[in-house]
Amino acid sequence: MKGLVLSGGFGTRLRPLTHTGPKQLIPIANKPNILYCIEDLRDAGITEIGIVLGNVMPEKVQEYLGDGSEFGVELNYIVQGEPEGIAHAINCSEDFMEGDDFIVYLGDNLLKAGIEAIPKMMKDESADCVISLFPVREPQRYGIAELSPDGKTVLRCVEKPREPKSNLAVIGVYALNRRFFEVYPRLKPSWRDEYEITDAITLLIEAGYRVVPHQVEGWWKDTGKPEDILEANHLILDDIDSSNEGTVEKGAAVVGRVKIGKGSKVTGRSVVRGPVIIGESCNIGPNAYVGPYTAIGDRCQLSSTEIEDSIVMEDTVINIERKIVRSMIGRHSRIVSSNGLIPKGERLIIGENTTLYL
Ligand code: TTP
Repeated sequence: MKGLVLSGGFGTRLRPLTHTGPKQLIPIANKPNILYCIEDLRDAGITEIGIVLGNVMPEKVQEYLGDGSEFGVELNYIVQGEPEGIAHAINCSEDFMEGDDFIVYLGDNLLKAGIEAIPKMMKDESADCVISLFPVREPQRYGIAELSPDGKTVLRCVEKPREPKSNLAVIGVYALNRRFFEVYPRLKPSWRDEYEITDAITLLIEAGYRVVPHQVEGWWKDTGKPEDILEANHLILDDIDSSNEGTVEKGAAVVGRVKIGKGSKVTGRSVVRGPVIIGESCNIGPNAYVGPYTAIGDRCQLSSTEIEDSIVMEDTVINIERKIVRSMIGRHSRIVSSNGLIPKGERLIIGENTTLYL
């Protein structure tokens, strides 16, 4: 069995962060979403993996993941280019799959329980497709699966149904086989001009192939919007263990579950209250407070600042006597005090599509 991770798409809902790289590389508890997907595939015994590249700086994905050996997998890159839909992205992998069964993982999905059950299900059920489902509160907003009365087969998938037949949303993990490529030529673009995975699944069902459901355990997150990323950061940090490869100076306090990376320092009456992750070579202090559910990337400097429930990406400097909450701060940012500057007032140098709550 092979794996396929999609890292294309527009990522419009995550601008401006996706002006400088694909959303699948945005760190969640200091690790890009795409790496969680690759590790889940590897833990399910799948090491031959294709990565579908889109057109938002795809070279950054290749640069980060390389040939995959660092992560115990073998990666092959497949170019989709313009995002024409998830089914289109999968279809680009036909040559790479060479007729094998495979698992598709959307690079912006996160699952607590991983995907280990899926390869076995595909085999034991003699399925042509296994789709992962998760119960949701507002089924009208999702692709929804309708199951047979015994719950063992998928009868239909409907995108954003007005009158949903279940609350089971089709999420971003699918096991497929060569039948997918057989039905794909019959697929038509949807109203939003994309080749939809739910329509491809419907074609498989109509052709008489066996599509079975897999109900996901634990939590599932689609990290397509900033609030989803913060929520995912929260969920991952809920499970971290403490470790300290840096130094905590006398007078500073580290409380609860906190992971501190190599060469990082917590200094001068600063307080770090977990769950928190701090990357490598950071300076936290003097007089900084890093509160629960915060992830701080490598080489950041925080002083005279309070922050919680936030993601601060690499190489960022924050020095303001204000409290920052529920924020995502991109790489190489500087948030510093305007005290003493003339003319008085907030000075902002910010990119397109930025939202500030001042
Ligand atoms: P979406 O979140 O549905 O689409 P998007 O990335 O274009 O985001 P936005 O709506 O904010 O503009 O994509 C789901 C996943 O599938 C995501 O990991 C990107 C990937 N994808 C591709 O690889 N190719 C595609 O053509 C599309 C549409 C998505």
